[in-house]
Amino acid sequence: MRLIAEMRVSKLAPSVSYISFLALYFSFYTITPISSTSLPHDDFIKCLHKNTYIDFPLEKTFFTPERNASTFIKVLESTAQNTRFLTNSTPKPSFIFTPVHESHVQASIICSKKLGIHLRVRSGGHDFEAVSYVSQIETPFVLLDLSKLRQINVDIEDNSAWVQAGATLGEVYYRIAEKSKIHGFPAGLCSTVGVGGYITGGGYGALMRKYGLAADNVLDAKIVDANGKLLNRSSMSEDMFWAIRGGGGGSFGIILAWKLKLVPVPETLTTFSVTKTLEQDPDFKTLSKWQRVADKLVEELFIRVVIRASGNNTVATSYRGQFLGGKETLIEIMKKDFPELGLTQKDCTEMRWIESILFYGEFPAGTPIEDLIQVKSPFLNPSFKSKGDIVKKPIPASALKGVFKRMVQQEPGTFLAFAPYGGMMAKISESEIPFPHRRGTIFKILYNVDTGKRPSSQIKWIRELHSFMTPYVSSNPRQAYVNYRDLDLGQNTKNKTSNFKNAQIWGSKYFKGNFERLVRIKSKVDPYNIFRHEQSIPTLPVQS
Ligand SMILES: Cc1cc2nc3c(=O)[nH]c(=O)nc-3n(C[C@H](O)[C@H](O)[C@H](O)COP(=O)(O)OP(=O)(O)OC[C@H]3O[C@@H](n4cnc5c(N)ncnc54)[C@H](O)[C@@H]3O)c2cc1C
Ligand SMILES: *[C@@H]1O[C@H](CO)[C@@H](O)[C@H](O)[C@H]1NC(C)=O
Ligand SMILES: *[C@@H]1O[C@H](CO)[C@@H](O)[C@H](O)[C@H]1NC(C)=O
Ligand SMILES: *[C@@H]1O[C@H](CO)[C@@H](O)[C@H](O)[C@H]1NC(C)=O
Ligand SMILES: *[C@@H]1O[C@H](CO)[C@@H](O)[C@H](O)[C@H]1NC(C)=O
Repeated sequence: MRLIAEMRVSKLAPSVSYISFLALYFSFYTITPISSTSLPHDDFIKCLHKNTYIDFPLEKTFFTPERNASTFIKVLESTAQNTRFLTNSTPKPSFIFTPVHESHVQASIICSKKLGIHLRVRSGGHDFEAVSYVSQIETPFVLLDLSKLRQINVDIEDNSAWVQAGATLGEVYYRIAEKSKIHGFPAGLCSTVGVGGYITGGGYGALMRKYGLAADNVLDAKIVDANGKLLNRSSMSEDMFWAIRGGGGGSFGIILAWKLKLVPVPETLTTFSVTKTLEQDPDFKTLSKWQRVADKLVEELFIRVVIRASGNNTVATSYRGQFLGGKETLIEIMKKDFPELGLTQKDCTEMRWIESILFYGEFPAGTPIEDLIQVKSPFLNPSFKSKGDIVKKPIPASALKGVFKRMVQQEPGTFLAFAPYGGMMAKISESEIPFPHRRGTIFKILYNVDTGKRPSSQIKWIRELHSFMTPYVSSNPRQAYVNYRDLDLGQNTKNKTSNFKNAQIWGSKYFKGNFERLVRIKSKVDPYNIFRHEQSIPTLPVQS
């Protein structure tokens, strides 16, 4: 049975599809017993061969621990961003499949259902809790790794680009900049994040005050649904197109590609980084003023704050800014709206948009832009635990004092990052897409600790800081960003009865009122919950 051919034919000739149904039914009951040398992936490969018409030696796309021991580990670890999930005791997939054609992804769904093998899907591997390549709740599971599906086609005339899910943000930026100096795309700060997971969770970055999230700038998508069908915007329901732009990865289908709307950027823009030590801002005057203005400044200006433990009882607070314009204008704006920072021309560098990506990615000055497509970003610790918060009123100096008191005890590697909202973020309604954190948000906090050396005490520390912050951040619900996945907020377990109730708690944090709509859509497009993980959207519980 050839999947695509069958789909085409079945509309015209139901009898053909009936015959192939019989064939499938028959083959299901004639699976030969697994011999001592046969592995689960042998059946999977056999099934794939039957369900795809692309003639490709599929063996070359499979990695098993039994037959390809060293390459299996290499491929597993290749994009696994958080080494906290790469220990010997972390559950491993039974095998890895790296499809090289879109029809392979379709066939994977058919075969995973037929053989009852649970799939996890990975694009860039940056999931904070590694749910794309580790399952704590399903054994066995298989890793479908989309790293070979990473084509990018930029159409400058059309102001758009089709990008496959396995591409990284750095590759997207690079391919756009290759064709134009005045086109850009509003996406994330770290170049190695995958397009597949990033956009489906919303996706913020330095252009969000001007243009919104990446998901706000999606024109079309290609997705494989729970039946192995390939859909695009016109063939999927409006509901499904809504859900995949912010509802989080791994719940509705496998995104193969996005069509992105490119946005204008000036030929040169300005970036700056100004760092204040604790001694230079002892009463938090600068940080307090930042909180009062960050979301109200002109939309062309984005100032992110990074608070880093430097060891030896000190903390450095960096104000890292991007302005879509020249130095002189920027200095004037800062003199008027944020003089406390004391920004001077000397602090500012004019550059192309593509160079600002290196700046925000914290690459050393002078790094060639080619590194965006070749090199791992130096952005985060290799082993980490992160949490997030949404802030709606300025955090008082007394509370900041408590935060910094905790930070000075930390070693280098621990940091907090504040990302300002406002501008376009405040103009888009809460229900436009599933991402609900819009008007009224001043900034978002990312808390990050290095868990390389003392994981359990570091995790305890970050949980304690998060709990200390309770009175100062959003409440009822305490909002969170789904792309900052945090399993402390609750998770699906093997006990399916309790999952729905738990999900209502973390679901309302990530999606507020949009959670219920996501559940209704999930129940419709994936009623058997094929696409599931520790924090996937649940289906409605069956009424008994
Ligand atoms: C170093 C670092 C920097 C970051 N910087 C930013 C930032 O600037 N802005 C921001 O908004 N976020 C940022 N993030 C968070 C990031 O957006 C999320 O971790 C995102 O989910 C990563 O996408 P991925 O494809 O790399 O991850 P993956 O781990 O591959 O996937 C993440 C989730 O999406 C699912 N998924 C993956 N591919 C697909 C697909 N094709 N179809 C359907 N589901 C899929 C996975 O199953 C998993 O549930 C950062 C994360 C890290 C580690
Ligand atoms: C894994 O090992 C098998 C058996 O030796 C081989 O046929 C296959 O090509 C290997 N896979 C890859 C991706 O090299
Ligand atoms: C979407 O899919 C439909 C049906 O398969 C097809 O006719 C149409 O050309 C596709 N649209 C795009 C933009 O690819
Ligand atoms: C911290 O102190 C140690 C020992 O006194 C010194 O070696 C190190 O360079 C200091 N680190 C910083 C960041 O000042
Ligand atoms: C599953 O969860 C439900 C609801 O919380 C609980 O009543 C039940 O005892 C749990 N079952 C198991 C096997 O733990």
